Amino acid sequence: MCKNAALCGGCALIKVPYEEQLKQKVAAVSALLEPYFSGEIKVTPTALNKFYRNKIELSFTHQPIHKDPQNKKIKRDKSVPLEFEDVLGFRQMGRWDRAVNLTDCLIFNENLPWFVYKINLWAKAKNLSFYDQRKHTGILRTLMIRQSFNKKGGMIMFISTAPFDTNGLTEICNQIYPGFSVLTAINDGMSDASGIKDIRVLSGVPTMQEAILLEGGKEIIFEISPQSFFQTNTKTANLMYQKVRSKVAEIKPKILYDFYGGAGSFSLTNADLVEKSFCVECVPEAVENGKKNADLNSIKNVEFYCQTTEDYLTEHNIESNNSLVILDPARAGVHPKACEKLASCGVKNILYISCNPKTLAENLEVLTKNYTVKSAECFDFFPNTKHIETFVELVLK
Ligand SMILES: C[S@@+](CC[C@H](N)C(=O)[O-])C[C@H]1O[C@@H](n2cnc3c(N)ncnc32)[C@H](O)[C@@H]1O
Repeated sequence: MCKNAALCGGCALIKVPYEEQLKQKVAAVSALLEPYFSGEIKVTPTALNKFYRNKIELSFTHQPIHKDPQNKKIKRDKSVPLEFEDVLGFRQMGRWDRAVNLTDCLIFNENLPWFVYKINLWAKAKNLSFYDQRKHTGILRTLMIRQSFNKKGGMIMFISTAPFDTNGLTEICNQIYPGFSVLTAINDGMSDASGIKDIRVLSGVPTMQEAILLEGGKEIIFEISPQSFFQTNTKTANLMYQKVRSKVAEIKPKILYDFYGGAGSFSLTNADLVEKSFCVECVPEAVENGKKNADLNSIKNVEFYCQTTEDYLTEHNIESNNSLVILDPARAGVHPKACEKLASCGVKNILYISCNPKTLAENLEVLTKNYTVKSAECFDFFPNTKHIETFVELVLK
């Protein structure tokens, strides 16, 4: 077990036996959905219990040294000046301003601790400062790594507040992660979520490839940009995409509305089952990936819209006959304005995929004015954490 598990936010439930974790998570989802669905909620366990994530974001953090960070009751002697340390790792649980040195890690791959060690040495040799979250000072800010499970390679991106001397960086990356592209980008905003700009490719290509595997050995290839969403547990997400595909095959719609479409995952994996698909996504890079992905897979029946779901629903009427709506929003859930419109859109079936059962339940309160929840099931994309993915099928009353 990782010795930082109690401090780091990545594996908060690691001490709970896995079967018990699933029970707890499904019980929490059942309780939230209870006003709308009282049937059994099945759960698909994670396909991989460790090294399951395809993407991680580590923070370069300049922070005060806490003598005993696990014991918050010990007060600091304020007459002694603070000592600082530079840390590269995941955020400390419940702290936006601190990180935990990554020495072991069971969620990405076995080479990660070695890579982090080498990057730390390299940064020290170059005298590069780490970002201070409170003072907004320092150069190196975030290290994002993504790896492909069903194709080859991945990407490593160094996000900094200003350009820095990258000499020697690609050599370390290529030594530990051969075949991965190496990129840099700038985030000089006040928060880590401010977004990136000025992407530079130091080696390799600006995107990476992943595939979703369908029945009979068929695969849909995805090209993914650094800014584009892709489900982080590739192997378990693949089971969910297959499940959704089997539902689409059962429902047999002519038109598919794929809201919160990302780089086109649902539109493209179901393209052969429908006449036409409308994929709506608000991140321009993801939409560009989606268009390219359609070409890569010789798919011609998907129309991409770069706008929010709420704007799309204000500007377009939903064709209710022979249509299916798929909703796969981020943690915030479906915008209330969009949810009201969807509740009265009249399509016979809605499939809702959610990474946050709380906002799912809030949206169901609105949707169930006109829809009944036919089934609900969970997919454990996030083992050893309290998070879980839920898939709900709604049918018009
Ligand atoms: C959970 S991801 C799902 C992506 C995709 N369906 C998939 O399976 O990979 C949610 C997506 O919604 C996008 N998004 C967030 N808010 C949005 C909005 N208001 N309207 C449309 N897309 C939105 C995000 O950029 C992200 O790509």
